Amino acid sequence: MNTPKSILITGASSGIGAALSLEYAQEGIFLALCGRSQERLSEVADNCRKKGASVAIELLDVTNEASVSNWVCQTNEKRALDLVIANAGVAGGDDGAGFGPEATRKIFRTNIDGVHNTVIPALKSMEAIGTGQIAIVSSLASFRGFPGTPAYAASKAAIRVWGEGLRGRYAEKGIKVSVICPGFVESRMTANNPFPMPLMMTGEKAARIIRHGLEKNTARIAFPWRMYFIAWLLGVLPPTLSDRLMPKVAEKE
Ligand SMILES: NC(=O)c1ccc[n+]([C@@H]2O[C@H](COP(=O)([O-])OP(=O)(O)OC[C@H]3O[C@@H](n4cnc5c(N)ncnc54)[C@H](OP(=O)(O)O)[C@@H]3O)[C@@H](O)[C@H]2O)c1
Repeated sequence: MNTPKSILITGASSGIGAALSLEYAQEGIFLALCGRSQERLSEVADNCRKKGASVAIELLDVTNEASVSNWVCQTNEKRALDLVIANAGVAGGDDGAGFGPEATRKIFRTNIDGVHNTVIPALKSMEAIGTGQIAIVSSLASFRGFPGTPAYAASKAAIRVWGEGLRGRYAEKGIKVSVICPGFVESRMTANNPFPMPLMMTGEKAARIIRHGLEKNTARIAFPWRMYFIAWLLGVLPPTLSDRLMPKVAEKE
């Protein structure tokens, strides 16, 4: 496939989004990056510019439908977008462990509404020209409800299944859609997790795997494969069995 030249990434100010921005950054590439922290986002943008990319940053909250839609559409008008990566996400809320009512609503607003707010205007823009690629960052946690992070797992399941449906729906319109299901990746999200995180990898390695998968138009980019197998198995086993096998994952703090 052709290398995407105009790329929009949400949640580019840290972790996987920052690593993806740097992975794609090079001469001749335009990057539209968003986040909420000006300091972190500007630092990522500067590092991408040092690699030769042209970069525009936008401070916005992905839960604000109008702001995200304006940003996606205006960016697309200036530089027709080849690739849109809906990556911004949160794992916990403001009221503690990620399963109180406010935390649940916040996780759903960011991880589900925020992805819809990004992908829907991108699809409309791409549909008009009959080409483009969408990547939706879900998680291996999307394959089964985890007692420690029920809202997070549910939000990631919703966007994974949505993305899988979109892939079939938009293929004949010339638009590729992939869902990305990482295992544990070093980032601010995982920095303080109070439980073991097997086969944890760096953001750089995750970004390389994601880019490679997108270049091959892989439907589901799930990694590392051993964690993917465990997550998949937990999802297909009857609950009477999987409940007993369920790792005792502590809740997010
Ligand atoms: N790390 C893992 O092990 C792992 C595994 C599977 C899936 N994921 C997924 O990967 C994605 C990136 O997470 P990460 O691990 O890289 O975590 P991270 O370092 O905390 O990065 C999250 C990014 O999302 C942005 N963000 C969060 N809420 C936002 C909002 N309302 N509006 C705009 N931007 C927002 C953050 O920007 P600001 O801080 O500037 O607001 C930041 O750039 C998430 O969707 C996450 O669920 C991560």
